[in-house]
Amino acid sequence: MNRYPDSDIDAIYRVIRERRDMRHFRPDPVAPDQLQRLLQAAHWAPSVGFMQPWRFIRITAPERRQALHAMVESERRRTAAALGEREDEFMRLKVEGILDCGEVLVAALMDGRERHVFGRRTLPEMDLASVACALQNMWLAARAEGLGMGWVSLFDPVALGTLLHLPPGAKAIAIICLGHVDHFYEQPLLEQEGWAGRQALATLVSENSWGEADARRIAVAPTLANTSP
Ligand SMILES: Cc1cc2nc3c(=O)[nH]c(=O)nc-3n(C[C@H](O)[C@H](O)[C@H](O)COP(=O)(O)O)c2cc1C
Repeated sequence: MNRYPDSDIDAIYRVIRERRDMRHFRPDPVAPDQLQRLLQAAHWAPSVGFMQPWRFIRITAPERRQALHAMVESERRRTAAALGEREDEFMRLKVEGILDCGEVLVAALMDGRERHVFGRRTLPEMDLASVACALQNMWLAARAEGLGMGWVSLFDPVALGTLLHLPPGAKAIAIICLGHVDHFYEQPLLEQEGWAGRQALATLVSENSWGEADARRIAVAPTLANTSP
């Protein structure tokens, strides 16, 4: 049988549903073998042309962690200013836990990506999609192990590249906060804080062509449309 046992299937859907982007952490360290498992989970991800474009830099020097935090803080203020009327509301959101979490990683796209044409000739951004798959694997594995993970993308990738000595062509795409948490948010924090809500699935799926709202609504079977996490 190709199918997993029902209890395993339930566990897969459960971790998908209960994964959260975490920004509140306890400071206790992540055990080295646990970190290794999470990195291995990331490395088992699919990638365009089996390119494996992910690179991870573990941040262990406290001053380097401080520097990352300062970069994010400065981008957070720029983002707030760019948001106009939602500036104050945005500034009240917690958008990272860099100084509190047990472990910080930087995830980057490798250098020399132009050599990889398979699956990227018309869609070069498939390298980024591949790294996102790796990070999603890590996110799910961390949740299953009871560890929180937060993806932080509020930074200037050029400045971060300079700080961490990335080679030309490589690009940092995520600061990853990993660590123990008191509890996982029941809903996305941005939903809890009233910033945004999850859209109805049925409005995002259409049939045969890009659908108008009404057409989209009928495209998904009611049972599926009603399955909200
Ligand atoms: C590519 C990407 C970048 C993100 N960057 C940030 C970020 O800089 N700061 C932050 O607080 N959350 C960030 N998030 C987390 C999202 O805000 C979060 O996934 C979303 O609000 C839904 O919540 P959930 O992940 O708990 O379901 C990012 C998520 C993704 C996928």
